[in-house]
Amino acid sequence: AGLDRVVIAVDGTSGSGKSSTCRAVATRLGLRYLDTGAMFRAVTWWLLRQGVDVHDADAVAARCDEPVLVSGTDPAAPTITVDGEDVAVAIRTDEVNRAVSPVSAVPQVRARLLAEQRAVIAGDGGRGEPVGGIVVEGRDIGSVVWPQAELKVYLTADPAARAARRAAEEGGSDVGATEAVLRERDRIDSGRATAPLTMADGAVHLDTTDHTLDEVVDVLVGLVHEAVSSQ
Ligand code: DC
Repeated sequence: AGLDRVVIAVDGTSGSGKSSTCRAVATRLGLRYLDTGAMFRAVTWWLLRQGVDVHDADAVAARCDEPVLVSGTDPAAPTITVDGEDVAVAIRTDEVNRAVSPVSAVPQVRARLLAEQRAVIAGDGGRGEPVGGIVVEGRDIGSVVWPQAELKVYLTADPAARAARRAAEEGGSDVGATEAVLRERDRIDSGRATAPLTMADGAVHLDTTDHTLDEVVDVLVGLVHEAVSSQ
């Protein structure tokens, strides 16, 4: 695959800088961008609004196919709608942060989103999704969603550094509390039975703790060029 068809799978822990990194890499290389975490957050947001108990896996499984999700893939302006409603802001609340990991552990939720993620990546013409190379971020992209990706990256950072970044993003919320929520999400995301967070075979591990966003983006862009030219 040339740059026009390349798939870059970026997995890693919560708050490791995945989103900012992936958007910047996609923008620099003229690729599409898919935030799969936003899809899990959108289903979670809808379940909460319906009053479904997110810790009741059977209840989550019974309702999770109902909301219609549409994910935009422009890295300059990623969008996500649920039944036509823009939820880009609504899916970033503390309530969703706390509920998203248990919802993501439910196999029916994962099966539904897996099919939609693969359709977006492939650019399924029948559904009208655009075609082209793409940077995809999540927890199981390199291991489950698209193991044939030309480049797989596993991004991590020290939990205290991640908490400080996320608290700053969230407008100065409490760093200690943010670190506790991140650690709890990592614990559930890594420990679940279906598609846990793990470093995929052949993934390049980048620890971003002591690096700026620009440094990580430069490294990744270099890796993409290497991967494409070695095909
Ligand atoms: O990347 P994020 O923080 O927006 O992800 C939110 C949650 O979604 C994360 O805690 C676990 C889940 N998730 C997942 O299980 N698989 C993915 N591919 C992406 C996210």
